[in-house]
Amino acid sequence: PRARLTIDPDFTIAPVPRRLFGSFVEHMGRCVYTGIYEPGHPKADADGLRTDVLDLVRELGPTVVRYPGGNFVSGYYWEDGVGPKEQRPRRLDRAWRSIETNEFGLGEFARWAKAAGTEPMMAINLGTRGIQEACDILEYANHPGGTKYSDLRRAHGNAEPFGIKLWCLGNEMDGPWQVGHKTAAEYGRLAAETARAMRLVDPSIELVACGSSNSRMPTFGEWERVVLEETYDQVDYISAHAYYQEHDDPGDFLACARDMDTFIESVVATADAVRARGKHRKHIDISFDEWNVWYQSRHRESAIAKGESEWEVAPRVIEDEYSITDAVVVGTLLNSLLRHGDRVTVACQAQLVNVIGLLRSEPGGPAWKQTIAHPFEQVRRRAAGEILDVRVRSDRYETPRFGDVDLVDASGTWDAENGLVSLFLANRDQAEAATVEVGVRGFGELRVQHAAVLATAEGQDRHTTNDEQHPERVSLRPLDGVEVADGQATLTLPPLSWAVVQLG
Ligand code: AHR
Repeated sequence: PRARLTIDPDFTIAPVPRRLFGSFVEHMGRCVYTGIYEPGHPKADADGLRTDVLDLVRELGPTVVRYPGGNFVSGYYWEDGVGPKEQRPRRLDRAWRSIETNEFGLGEFARWAKAAGTEPMMAINLGTRGIQEACDILEYANHPGGTKYSDLRRAHGNAEPFGIKLWCLGNEMDGPWQVGHKTAAEYGRLAAETARAMRLVDPSIELVACGSSNSRMPTFGEWERVVLEETYDQVDYISAHAYYQEHDDPGDFLACARDMDTFIESVVATADAVRARGKHRKHIDISFDEWNVWYQSRHRESAIAKGESEWEVAPRVIEDEYSITDAVVVGTLLNSLLRHGDRVTVACQAQLVNVIGLLRSEPGGPAWKQTIAHPFEQVRRRAAGEILDVRVRSDRYETPRFGDVDLVDASGTWDAENGLVSLFLANRDQAEAATVEVGVRGFGELRVQHAAVLATAEGQDRHTTNDEQHPERVSLRPLDGVEVADGQATLTLPPLSWAVVQLG
C-alpha cells in the first residue's frame, strides 16, 4: 500500500496532554502482590517494593497511575489498608474472587508512586459506600493535619499530605457486573453529591464521573447524558473504558482504533449537548482511564470468572501475553488518543503489571516488558509540544465491522522548542510493506533524528511474544531508509508494523 501524510506547524490540535500516558494498578490478580510489591523478593526494597519492576516502570514512565481499581474498588474499605500491617484485616474481594490481605494500601501506593515518579490517581468506592467514606479518604490523603483522618495519616508515618489531585467517582457503575451497580439517575445523583462534599474538603481536586464501560453497553450515550445532566457543574471529566481482542478476523482487530475514535467523538458530542442545554461555560473532558487489548473470551472461561475457583491471595488472573499484532493495535490506540488530545486529557492503559500488563513479573523471579510496552514507552517519551493535525490519504481495506479502513494509521506532534517532529505510524497490511510520503514543508530544514520499528524479525510471526526466557525477543529495531528531501520525507513500513520517526 501507499499513503500520503501532510503536516504543517500551523495545523495543530492541542498541546500534548501529559496525563495521556497513564497506566493503572488494581488490586487484582498479581498486579499489586508479586507485581509491584513482593516482600522477600531478592530485588525488594525495605518496604517490599520490587525495585526491578520499579526500574522498568521508570523506563515506561507512565505519567499518572490510577489505583486501587477497577471493579475491586466497588467493595473496598480503604481503612483496612492503612496503619500497622499486622492489624490489617483479610477480606473477600468479591470482584475477583480473591483474598485481599490489605498488606498494601494507600500509604504504600503513595510511596510507590513517588518512587516511580508518577502522579497518583485515586478511585473511591461508590458501589457499597458513599459520601462520608469519600470525604474521609480525601481528608486522610490531602488534609494537612489537626483532624481525625489527617492525624491518622500522620500517626501512620506520613507527616506530609499526599496531595492527590485526580479522583474517580466510582468505577464502571453502568456495568451489571459491578458490586453496587446503579442506574444512570441513581449514580448521577450520588456522584454529584459526593463531588460537592469532596470539594468542600479540598477544592483543588479534579473529579471524574463514570461514563460507559464500553461503546457496546445498551445504555451507551444515554448514560453519559443523564450522568452529566446531574453532575456537570461538579465534575471535570467523564470516563471511558475500552478493551479490544482479536476474534476471527485479524484485519478487523487491527482496525479497532476506529471504534475508539467513534467512542470518543460520541462522548464529546454528548457532553457538548449537555453543555449547550444547561448553558454551561466549561467543557467536560474525557478520562479514558482503562484501555488495552484484552482476550476477554479466555477470561470468561476461567474458574475465577465462573466462580469455581478456591479463594486465594493474588491468583493468576488475565495474564495475557501480548503478540506483535497486539503491539501494532496498541500503537493505533495510542494514535487515536493522541488525535483526540484536545478532549481526551487523561488516559490510563490497563494495567501496569501482570494483569493485562505492559510488564510481567514472576514471584521470586524476573520482570520484563511485554510487546505492547514498546509503543507505549515511545509515544510517552517522544510525543511533545503540540499535537499535529495529520492529514492521511492512504490505501484502504475492507473490514466486516468498520467498513473501509486506512492501511496506514498515523499521529504526530511538533515540539517547536526543540524543533522536533515526531510521527507514530502503523501499517495494518499483514502481507505488504507500505510506502509512506510525508509532506513536511513549513518546518524548515529537517533531518532524520530517530527512526525505529516494531515488526516481525526472522523466525517470528505475528503471534510472537516476549516471555521469561525471551524478554527482548520483540523490541524496537532501527527503521532504515527514511529520507527527507525537498519538503518531503519518504519511508517504508514493513508489513504489520508500528514505527516512530523523529525529524528535526
Ligand atoms: O482492568 C480490568 C477490569 O476491567 C477492571 O477492574 C474493570 O474496571 C474493567 O471491567
